[in-house]
Amino acid sequence: PRSKLIDGFGREVTYLRVSVTDRCDLRCVYCMSEHMTFLPKAEVLTLEELERIASAFVGLGVRKLRLTGGEPLMRKGFMTLVEDLSRHLKSGGLDEITLTTNGTRLAAFAEDLARLGVRRINVSLDTLKPDLFRRLTRGGDLAKVLAGVEAAQAAGLSLKINAVALRDDNAAEIPDLIQWAHGRGLDMTLIETMPLGEVEADRTDQFLSLAEVRRTLASYWTLTDLPLNTGGPARYVRVEETGGRLGFITPLSHNFCEACNRVRLTCTGTLHSCLGREDAADLRAVLRAGGSDADLADAIRLAIDAKPKGHDFHIGRGEAPAVTRHMSTTGG
Ligand code: GTP
Ligand code: 5AD
Ligand code: SF4
Repeated sequence: PRSKLIDGFGREVTYLRVSVTDRCDLRCVYCMSEHMTFLPKAEVLTLEELERIASAFVGLGVRKLRLTGGEPLMRKGFMTLVEDLSRHLKSGGLDEITLTTNGTRLAAFAEDLARLGVRRINVSLDTLKPDLFRRLTRGGDLAKVLAGVEAAQAAGLSLKINAVALRDDNAAEIPDLIQWAHGRGLDMTLIETMPLGEVEADRTDQFLSLAEVRRTLASYWTLTDLPLNTGGPARYVRVEETGGRLGFITPLSHNFCEACNRVRLTCTGTLHSCLGREDAADLRAVLRAGGSDADLADAIRLAIDAKPKGHDFHIGRGEAPAVTRHMSTTGG
């Protein structure tokens, strides 16, 4: 039987992002609405169900798992899930288990993550100004994130800092963020804001093209293209003056869907074959109807066959978001 997941455009899916909870202790303005209601527990997959679906993907050729949320470290029993999934690292079924976190709880979990074989994590951090951080996250405490970053480094994890580029809020601070990250030996990636879900923030006004940011940075720094490929969407340069790596994630200014290798599982067991489309397959229904592993594999293959060519995000047309679900549901 075919074991690789190849979509209708010949792209191989080797990277699964799993959102383990829709909950988050922060409420970033570009990600969530101020009045989010969280899912009732019965709708959320159990740890066993999450493990079973993720393992089915590993059996079908996925090599990289990224655990996201909401905030993954908010999920009760999260470390048990990581421990269970880490068997695929030992058996060689997976190259990497990693997570994207807001960092607030990292201090408590960093050592265990490292012990379980996690080597690299991405921490979302848009500003180093405590007041702006509090506003962007609607109440978050920057000091906790900084403590989390420090603990993760002390535990030997490699870190990448993710910042969403926002025209008025942090554009002027981007060089400082880069210098701060590189000064600590951290990689840094900038992300263009994407219009997912209704949020109160005006993402059209705040949109900042990274093509523009790159030109500005290149006027005072030397940026050298790097061949680095993490399996994610970022294109990397080395900033010669800082010696650090800088990535650009540019869904709007430079679409990268052609090389997409990813699909997403939400904490309710919905498989989204594209971040920027409504396409969805209900894997929870397969499990809860008593489906076999073969049934699960069939449902996954069907969804991958129909993976759309790419997203349909637009900024600045005054349209409603192309995708109604929030980033906190899909996990980015
Ligand atoms: P690495 O493993 O470090 O390469 O991570 P990554 O960039 O794949 O993951 P991360 O969670 O750090 O994602 C950073 C940003 O990239 C998030 O805002 C994601 O939504 C965005 N992103 C990741 N994959 C895609 C994609 O296929 N399409 C779009 N439009 N954005 C993506
Ligand atoms: N556009 C771009 N990135 C976003 N993220 C959350 N919401 C958005 C958005 N609307 C980022 C988070 C995190 C990553 C998983 O997704 O900041 O770094
Ligand atoms: Fe939470 Fe991440 Fe969304 Fe911010 S971007 S509200 S940290 S899930």
